[in-house]
Amino acid sequence: MRKWILAAAAAAVIAVPAIAKADPIIVKFSHVVSPDAPKGKAALLFKTLAEKYTDGKVKVEIYPNSSLYKDKEELEALQLGSVQILAPSISKFGPLGVKEFDIFDLPFLLSDDARARQMFSSPMMADLNKKLEAKGVEPLAYWDNGAHVYTCNKPLIMPDDFRGLKMRIQGSKVLDAVARELGAIPQIMGFGELYQALQTGVVDGEDKVPSNILTQKLYEVQKNLTVSYHGRLTYALITNDKWWKGLPPDVRAGLDKAVKETTVFFNDTAAKDNADALAKIRASGKIQVHDQTPAEKKAWIAKLMPVHLEMQKRFGKEFIEKIYAASGFTPAF
Ligand code: LMR
Repeated sequence: MRKWILAAAAAAVIAVPAIAKADPIIVKFSHVVSPDAPKGKAALLFKTLAEKYTDGKVKVEIYPNSSLYKDKEELEALQLGSVQILAPSISKFGPLGVKEFDIFDLPFLLSDDARARQMFSSPMMADLNKKLEAKGVEPLAYWDNGAHVYTCNKPLIMPDDFRGLKMRIQGSKVLDAVARELGAIPQIMGFGELYQALQTGVVDGEDKVPSNILTQKLYEVQKNLTVSYHGRLTYALITNDKWWKGLPPDVRAGLDKAVKETTVFFNDTAAKDNADALAKIRASGKIQVHDQTPAEKKAWIAKLMPVHLEMQKRFGKEFIEKIYAASGFTPAF
């Protein structure tokens, strides 16, 4: 009897590892926008696909609306390994010590959807990716969230209308130069602080894609919107290089598949989301929407082209010209 009990106990001990499933790998995905914005929806899709393609070996936790990290903190948290996936705007890479991504903020460079797609699928991106890798950041994909419009508490019709206004910018040195060229006062501010800053007049205006204006309800605290499409919002889906390379190969392959499918979803749906958002903002009646005339657009381009020349000092003429060629942009100097 005793022998039988011992044998049964030993079998139970041996049987445990066979039936117990290893704890899933926790993947924290932090972002600053609403779950209803294109990035929020893509993050949720990524979770579903990642958990499916890794057969439950991974559990993705999504933290929207800056609930885990704000703009300022998230890149450092990724480098330290406290968060595994982010999808920041590439206009926010300055604090990493990678200045090259600011170039995509050159005014009107990527206003056009086709040019933006051409740029981010160009072979030049491989060199830029290396700059991020050198900082311990692995770029997994680029997500194109379309062109920016301006909002403000006064109509922005001609470039002179910006004079003296406090404008929130995302952070890049090019965006700083754009605001200054317009005679405005640039103010770097986290996305999560923007609603209150606009409501209380800490800043007078900002630029953004319509889906963010809608889902953050910024149209409730701004009187005017100008459909200017002067700049672009591109996200880099990034991870911690060391963590990514240390994953079991089957898990990494599953996550990679999820990244690819989520990227197709993002790039297929963001443009529609932004068009729908702009229509809803117009219909809200809460904000005056101004569509630029061709003459106004020409005046904005003429005003902002000097920023391209000024930035030759920062990036080098040759690098800027390579970017023009890669994106198919012809400057109107
Ligand atoms: C912004 O700060 O305006 C955007 O980068 C927010 C975002 O991630 O869409």
